[in-house]
Amino acid sequence: MPSADEIRNVQRATWAELSAGWEKWDSVIMEQLGPVGAAMIERLDIADDQQHLDIASGTGEPGLSIARLAPKGRVVLTDLSAEMLDVAQRRARAQGVANIETNVCSADDLPFDDATFDSVSVRFGYMFFPDAGKATAEFARVLKPGGRLCSSVWVKPEENPWTAIAMQAIATEAVVSAPDPDGPTMFRCAAPGCVGALYEGAGLRHVAEWDVDVELVTRSPVQYWEMISEHVSLAVAALQQVNELARERIRANAIAKVSTFEKDGKVRVPGVARCIVGTKQETGGTLRHDGASSAKAG
Ligand SMILES: C[S@@+](CC[C@H](N)C(=O)[O-])C[C@H]1O[C@@H](n2cnc3c(N)ncnc32)[C@H](O)[C@@H]1O
Repeated sequence: MPSADEIRNVQRATWAELSAGWEKWDSVIMEQLGPVGAAMIERLDIADDQQHLDIASGTGEPGLSIARLAPKGRVVLTDLSAEMLDVAQRRARAQGVANIETNVCSADDLPFDDATFDSVSVRFGYMFFPDAGKATAEFARVLKPGGRLCSSVWVKPEENPWTAIAMQAIATEAVVSAPDPDGPTMFRCAAPGCVGALYEGAGLRHVAEWDVDVELVTRSPVQYWEMISEHVSLAVAALQQVNELARERIRANAIAKVSTFEKDGKVRVPGVARCIVGTKQETGGTLRHDGASSAKAG
């Protein structure tokens, strides 16, 4: 089992490399993931002066959408990858969103005082944290009493053909080993109740989870393969194991498989995400991961 530092180092390098793909395919990715961000935001009850923290913000969502809803507030976008946050800053400038700041840090060690934020969001970040329990304790620590945490993760691959199709095609040519259940991969938090149990362990109340449907829409099967092979962490890593000829065969296989999803002149491949919400109790001390009362200063 790699150490927390090793996991962070690999994640940092991986997302630095993926950031160009995320920027290139921004509009397709944002359209696909938009319903998940909207579902999370609905439960966060954003006020116009909200102080909000977006964790694993990547290229900026849902933090930038929240900043637009809180013109008198402030949103801090955080991520382990400076390159992903650079994209977020470019997107913020392009959208005219000024009430944000960025901070490169790891979810399990936040440089903020206790009880700083009204709300915290984590869209598709939980799966990559070296210690998800410690990270959740950090989110609870920096929330104000009564503040809400909302996150989202992917459910199992069988319900996410948008990525499973590509992985099945890759598996015909490369050894795709079964992911380490404790390792950082995109389906690590797929089990129902997985993230909810972490919330409860960090002392959050009123924990609830629900599923949200998504749809990846591309202009053609070829465009589907281009975007998946340039931005999905599992696919990019697996493709690095094979030579050019094998890559060509994988590409042809994935394109043939995804063609069955063509409808009305587009390719529409479904998927399912799970959102999890919880509230920090109104009174009493924040529990740290080790159960002690916290007094960490920023
Ligand atoms: C799938 S992207 C999600 C980006 C964005 N929230 C979205 O939904 O579009 C996952 C992000 O998690 C970040 N990440 C990985 N490990 C992290 C850690 N330990 N702390 C903070 N962010 C981390 C990556 O750098 C990457 O930007």
